[in-house]
Amino acid sequence: MLIFSDPGDVLAAFAEPALVPPRPGGVEGGMAWLRRRVARFSSGEVHARRRAIAEKYLAAVEPGTLRPLEGEDRRRFPARALAEAIGLGSAIVDDVLLAAAAYHGEDSAAADEAVERLRAQVPGDDEECANLIGLLIQACATTGPPVVATKRVAVRDTEIGGVPVPAGTLVTLRLEGNPFGAEPRVCPGRAHALAMLEELR
Ligand code: HEM
Repeated sequence: MLIFSDPGDVLAAFAEPALVPPRPGGVEGGMAWLRRRVARFSSGEVHARRRAIAEKYLAAVEPGTLRPLEGEDRRRFPARALAEAIGLGSAIVDDVLLAAAAYHGEDSAAADEAVERLRAQVPGDDEECANLIGLLIQACATTGPPVVATKRVAVRDTEIGGVPVPAGTLVTLRLEGNPFGAEPRVCPGRAHALAMLEELR
C-alpha cells in the first residue's frame, strides 16, 4: 500500500489512467449490482460514459434551488432536495440513505434490499438507473462524514511524483488539498454541495 498526500501527487494520480478505483467485489444484486455500474467505481471509456449520465442530470439542476425544508434533518436534506429537483420525488430517500451508509464500506442485507427497492422505482435502463442512484448516494457526502481519502489500484506499472507504483499496488490518495478530487474524476456535484452547505450555515 502506498499513500500520497502531497496535493500535486494527488492531482497526478487522479489523472493517471493506470490508477483505477479498486474493482468492486460481491455477487450480482443489491450493492454489488450498483457498484458494478456506477461511474465512481469504473474506469476508461466506460467511466466517461457513466459520468456523463451524472453530469447530464446535475446540469439541469440550478444549485441555488436546493433548499432544506423547515426543520428537515440535515443528513436527509441533500438527497431529498436533489431527488425532488430531478423529478424522482422524495419517497426513495430513506433507501438512498440506507444504501449510502454501505456504499464505501461493508455491505449489509439492509443496504442490498434498499438498492433492490431503488432499482424498482428509479427509471432508465440499467446504467441510467444505477447512475441516478449513485448520484443521490454521493450527494449524501454533503452532510456526511468528511471524505478524507480515496483508493486506487495500479493496473500496470506506473509512477507518481518519481515514486514507482508497481502493477497491483493499492494506493491511498489523501484529499486534504483536493477535497473534491481532481480531473478527470473531479466531483461533478461540487457546486451543488457547496450551495447546499451555504443553505445550512
Ligand atoms: C450534491 C452533492 C454531491 C453529488 C451529487 C456528488 C456526486 C459525485 C459523483 C457522481 C461522483 C463520481 C464521479 C466520477 O467517478 O467521475 C463524485 C465523486 C467525488 N465526490 Fe462528489 N458529490 C457530491 C458531494 C460531494 C462532497 C460534499 C464531497 C466532499 C467534500 C465530494 C467529494 C467527491 C470526491 C473526492 C469524488 C472523487 C472520488 C474518486 O474519484 O475517488 N462530493 N461525486
